[in-house]
Amino acid sequence: MSLKFPFTSLIESLPSTVPFVGPELQERIIGAPYRARIGANENVFGSSPKAREAMRRELDHCWKYTDPEFLNLKQAIAEHHNIPQENIVIGEGIDGLLGVASRLFIEPGIPVATSKGAYPTFNYQISGLGGNLVTTPFVNDHECPDALLKLAREENARVVYLANPDNPMGTWWSGRELDVMIAALPEHSVLFLDEAYVEFAPEGTSPPIDLENPQVLRFRTFSKAYGLAGTRIGYVIGHRELIKAFDKIRNHFGLNSFAIAGANAALRDQDWLVRVKNDVALAIRRIKDIAIENGLKPIPTATNFIALDCGRDGGFARAVLAELGKRAVFVRMPWVAPQDRCIRVSAGKKDDLDLFEKALPLALSRAEN
Ligand SMILES: Cc1ncc(COP(=O)(O)O)c(C=O)c1O
Repeated sequence: MSLKFPFTSLIESLPSTVPFVGPELQERIIGAPYRARIGANENVFGSSPKAREAMRRELDHCWKYTDPEFLNLKQAIAEHHNIPQENIVIGEGIDGLLGVASRLFIEPGIPVATSKGAYPTFNYQISGLGGNLVTTPFVNDHECPDALLKLAREENARVVYLANPDNPMGTWWSGRELDVMIAALPEHSVLFLDEAYVEFAPEGTSPPIDLENPQVLRFRTFSKAYGLAGTRIGYVIGHRELIKAFDKIRNHFGLNSFAIAGANAALRDQDWLVRVKNDVALAIRRIKDIAIENGLKPIPTATNFIALDCGRDGGFARAVLAELGKRAVFVRMPWVAPQDRCIRVSAGKKDDLDLFEKALPLALSRAEN
């Protein structure tokens, strides 16, 4: 007997999709754990010891609901950026915040502009609201501000998404270049500027924060440089009226107290961040060296991961990925052509990269056959 459920027509129309298959599921399929987890752009160097201690201390208080204003953390973020608290909303990582922010603007049929092959969780959130995603290709492995602007104008897009630096290619624009884009946004568009990796990027990658501009929302996370991906916490900065609107629909008690305590302590320990950035830079340099040694071309990156051009098509890169997986090395790859000629490797510790160094030549030669 086929079951019938009273789903909305939107839900009925959506494919069963998961933006990312987790490495845990892949491990269950393979039947063995990965030995190098360098595929999800996590920070293997971990969070500040002060953040971990703060989360441990929070254990005794976890019977309480959190303060739904997250005042202490909001104060810390406000001080960090030197902005008022009213311009900040905190939520369940950028992924969760992209969902809430999208609900502010998107209903079925509303056009939304992004790059073909850009961060897929954004697309997932938009599709879940019935938004009409329109895309423009990457240009020279970069998301292209000019092409996005043109698309936004032509398609009347209400939201434009850009990650700077970008995932999956790791490429970036300077803050000055983005300021030019922001000034040219059509009146009807709001830019979702995803800055998940910006702490790793060169000085000047982030445009100055302009709290008077009602057309930009900036998404930040504690998942990457701060090493708190598992706690699920991030924030958005924007015009106070835009930020106030989040209160209408956000999940006020949706953050866990460990995340809040950890993020607060992590933000205050900028020395740890300097150390992490140094470790990441060294790891990226080593991955580059390994790649070049094996005839692959590293794409310049401003993140904690690097795309390596395997010089052939997506089928070949997928075969390399599968062969690395068989050797217990978890990496990922871009999802559309022509970027899918690359594999994408996250910064790892010495042991991770030793294993990658050993596995890569074997994976490449197996993929040839
Ligand atoms: C561009 C981009 N945005 C957002 C995220 C997710 O951030 P969060 O963990 O805060 O949800 C990622 C994670 O890979 C990312 O690559």
